[in-house]
Amino acid sequence: MEYVKLARVQDFKKTRIKSYKLLARPVGIIKQKDGTFFATEVGCKHENADLTEGKMNGDVVICPWHGWKYNLVTGECLWGSTVCLRRHGLKIEGDDIYVTLRPLEPEPTFEDWGPPLK
Ligand code: FES
Repeated sequence: MEYVKLARVQDFKKTRIKSYKLLARPVGIIKQKDGTFFATEVGCKHENADLTEGKMNGDVVICPWHGWKYNLVTGECLWGSTVCLRRHGLKIEGDDIYVTLRPLEPEPTFEDWGPPLK
């Protein structure tokens, strides 16, 4: 698994979440209350809006474009889609935060999307 240096721990002194682009997709680094970090896709599964620009309520974020909701910690879409936000690998060396170039899980297939939304 290929890691790239994306951020520094000190970048999160005043913020909990930041968005970066990896392979043209938004990837978020999130600092949890216990001080640990994780990285996840933050491109909305509807039309790829950056979820870090959405309204946060605890771990739930509302997409700024059309309102889909996600739990950022579990990745679950709370709006009816069966496709989740996938985690990236993350490791910290000193002050540097490295994230895997690609998500840990494979790209969802057409069948993973479930029935169309109404
Ligand atoms: S882009 Fe997120 S709900 Fe449409």
